[in-house]
Amino acid sequence: MKILIKNGHVIDPSQELDGIYEILIEGKKIKEIAPSLKKGKSASVKVIDAKGMYVLPGLVDMHTHLREPGFEHKETIKTGTHAAIKGGFTAVCAMPNTTPVNDNAGITEYIFQKAQKEGMCTVYPIGAITKGQKGEELSEIGMMKDAGCVAFSDDGRPVENPLIMRRALEYSKAFDVPIISHCEDLSLAEGGVMNEGLLSQTMGLKGIPKEAEEIIVYRDIALAGLTGGRLHIAHISTEGSVNIIREAKARGIKVTAETCPHYFSLTEEAIKDYDTNAKVNPPLRTVKDIEAIKEGIKDGTIDVIATDHAPHHKNEKLREFDLAPSGISGLETALSLSLKLVEEGVITLSELVKKMALNPAGILKINKGTLKPGSDADIVIIDLEKKFKVNSDLFISKGKNTPFEGWELKGMPVITICMGRVHEWQ
Ligand code: DOR
Repeated sequence: MKILIKNGHVIDPSQELDGIYEILIEGKKIKEIAPSLKKGKSASVKVIDAKGMYVLPGLVDMHTHLREPGFEHKETIKTGTHAAIKGGFTAVCAMPNTTPVNDNAGITEYIFQKAQKEGMCTVYPIGAITKGQKGEELSEIGMMKDAGCVAFSDDGRPVENPLIMRRALEYSKAFDVPIISHCEDLSLAEGGVMNEGLLSQTMGLKGIPKEAEEIIVYRDIALAGLTGGRLHIAHISTEGSVNIIREAKARGIKVTAETCPHYFSLTEEAIKDYDTNAKVNPPLRTVKDIEAIKEGIKDGTIDVIATDHAPHHKNEKLREFDLAPSGISGLETALSLSLKLVEEGVITLSELVKKMALNPAGILKINKGTLKPGSDADIVIIDLEKKFKVNSDLFISKGKNTPFEGWELKGMPVITICMGRVHEWQ
């Protein structure tokens, strides 16, 4: 089967393309891309007219919780990857905090097979750094890499012991895989549930100081310097983290960083009515942090925008604020929220494509995030003008936990093509 995408405005930073191009897909691969492919009408070619639309490489989410195995009431590989496709993502990385934890090659294999059978987009497993994510003993990083893990993380928890983190970073160097750090000093966080400040005092909730994140960002950067390992900092939420990472990059430390749409779209005020849908870890912060994160996105300190898609069951989120689990269902709003950065002039659309496709693919060393001939036919076609109201009832994800309910957003995917398969939304 051949597909020809015509008349669309193609943006592909991997080839510095920004203009009207035609793309020919053959089977699962991109065959050709040029201003005009001079293909006549043919019954064997399906033509997609993308006039007025932007055509981008399929997005790559390097931070997704698919919840399977073990928490299928929250999400499954099937529903999570379907939600990904709806959100314009053609590849997602599955975090290992499942039950059992993905800390051995057997679980990695299981996720792969399940994803192959039921997944709608490509799934790359992320292995746990330590067995059971307990922080005590390293997992078999080499064997898990061979089984297909593209990175290692104890996400949801920090690696508390600096010696274990040091060893993990040494392995990351030897095996050339990134270690993704969930930066949270648990003793300083002290079981807190929101940002520490005046609001936490007023609300009578235990706060988490920004320093609980920043101390571990600093520690892990120091360890990356010591070991030469490949460090990626997950979901940064504070101004201090941006500053520490900027300074480390200037010193030549091998570190990359990600943030998520909620950290540049919302402040702690979002939980004012004890809305557990805005409870997330790290917590939402302040206007000053949002400004610093946008600055970090702009100047390249922050390489990646990831979703940290963390679906939870409605009943779990219905518990009192202290007890409700942290997390936001993000796959179906991430692109539209991030397009606001383009509208506000923080970054260009091409830079956004870098942060949501090319850079994560580069960090993970996977052959995605590009429209170069020969690469996988993973493409998202977006309508920048299309407006919609966020309605979690319409989410494909089982996780309806969004703090963006009712928000008017502009710009959304209309067609997602994954490995040559076309998915169209109205
Ligand atoms: O809010 C969060 N939810 N942060 C994490 O680090 C983990 C995630 C989850 O697994 O629910």
